[in-house]
Amino acid sequence: MINLNKFIPYWLFLFSLNAYVTAENISVPVYGALGDSLYLHCNTTLKSSVEVQWKQGVNRIGVFKNNRTAFDNPYKNRAEIFANGTLRLDRTQKNDSGDYSVDVFNTDGTNIFKGSMQVYIQEAVSQPVVHSTCLSHGEVLLVCTVDKGDNVSFNWSLDGVPLNTSLAYFSDEEYVVILKKHVSGNLVCIATNQVSTNQSDSVISNCSGRKNKHVICLALLYIELPCCFYIRHINN
Ligand SMILES: *[C@@H]1O[C@H](CO)[C@@H](O)[C@H](O)[C@H]1NC(C)=O
Ligand SMILES: *[C@@H]1O[C@H](CO)[C@@H](O)[C@H](O)[C@H]1NC(C)=O
Ligand SMILES: *[C@@H]1O[C@H](CO)[C@@H](O)[C@H](O)[C@H]1NC(C)=O
Ligand SMILES: *[C@@H]1O[C@H](CO)[C@@H](O)[C@H](O)[C@H]1NC(C)=O
Ligand SMILES: *[C@@H]1O[C@H](CO)[C@@H](O)[C@H](O)[C@H]1NC(C)=O
Ligand SMILES: *[C@@H]1O[C@H](CO)[C@@H](O)[C@H](O)[C@H]1NC(C)=O
Ligand SMILES: *[C@@H]1O[C@H](CO)[C@@H](O)[C@H](O)[C@H]1NC(C)=O
Ligand SMILES: *[C@@H]1O[C@H](CO)[C@@H](O)[C@H](O)[C@H]1NC(C)=O
Ligand SMILES: *[C@@H]1O[C@H](CO)[C@@H](O)[C@H](O)[C@H]1NC(C)=O
Ligand SMILES: *[C@@H]1O[C@H](CO)[C@@H](O)[C@H](O)[C@H]1NC(C)=O
Repeated sequence: MINLNKFIPYWLFLFSLNAYVTAENISVPVYGALGDSLYLHCNTTLKSSVEVQWKQGVNRIGVFKNNRTAFDNPYKNRAEIFANGTLRLDRTQKNDSGDYSVDVFNTDGTNIFKGSMQVYIQEAVSQPVVHSTCLSHGEVLLVCTVDKGDNVSFNWSLDGVPLNTSLAYFSDEEYVVILKKHVSGNLVCIATNQVSTNQSDSVISNCSGRKNKHVICLALLYIELPCCFYIRHINN
């Protein structure tokens, strides 16, 4: 079931007349921002006389040989392979996500090195927006949303300090928090994924002495019903 090669960085030393090579299968995924250039390193020290070939899945991307490069069709105008074996992909697209492999051959065509890695292309997160609503006893319901971004996770800070359970109630959804009574200050929601982080403008929330129960449950209905029960529970 468990393939140790995928979890343990694997080092291999090979020697030939043409190249002294360190090989490994990269166990940590490589993340690239959608639309940007992505560099994939093969972590080897190469002599110019070797041939380097990169593939995505079974499709060849291109080769570097005798100081020259040749690329296959979809990659012709947006890829580069350097003498050190590094592949650069430009203007990355979602479907550039996948398995990449590199093969190094010496002058007589012998495959002297194989490496592979997993690539994920993610859209960067747009600036998050915070909506705040006063609850009946002075608590503040905060909902953070982003328009764009893959696999986004959220974080909150109050006056520059991460929100903790003594200041707020956390729900299962990290984009929803409820500030406890009498807690006020500059709030920022931080949205993060593997390729970017972006934060909201700061929101000053102060709900002392305000009551607004109906608005809340309407606002909550479109988020999640269990959350609404959660709020009720807090209020009662
Ligand atoms: C890397 O993975 C490929 C395919 O899983 C395997 O054939 C190769 O031997 C591995 N190389 C190293 C250095 O572990
Ligand atoms: C290449 O090796 C270095 C040093 O061991 C390591 O830090 C780096 O993550 C490796 N490259 C990639 C793409 O993982
Ligand atoms: C490749 O280029 C390097 C530097 O430009 C040069 O030293 C080397 O001789 C070249 N190798 C071949 C095979 O053309
Ligand atoms: C290989 O060369 C390219 C272009 O000079 C550079 O961007 C890249 O970082 C180099 N790769 C490594 C592993 O040093
Ligand atoms: C990848 O997606 C782009 C559009 O984002 C499309 O033009 C291209 O044909 C797709 N490539 C493949 C191999 O599906
Ligand atoms: C945050 O997102 C906005 C677009 O919503 C973008 O203009 C800005 O550059 C982003 N900031 C960072 C630090 O990525
Ligand atoms: C999504 O992000 C979480 C951490 O926030 C991470 O553990 C997970 O691997 C990511 N998933 C993908 C597909 O990148
Ligand atoms: C959230 O904030 C804490 C404390 O500042 C930090 O350790 C953590 O890495 C942050 N998580 C994300 C996903 O930004
Ligand atoms: C929560 O944060 C506040 C303000 O930074 C701090 O004074 C308090 O000790 C923290 N409480 C816990 C349980 O971490
Ligand atoms: C919050 O509003 C109340 C009532 O308007 C006011 O007395 C209090 O000073 C405000 N607190 C902050 C931190 O702005």
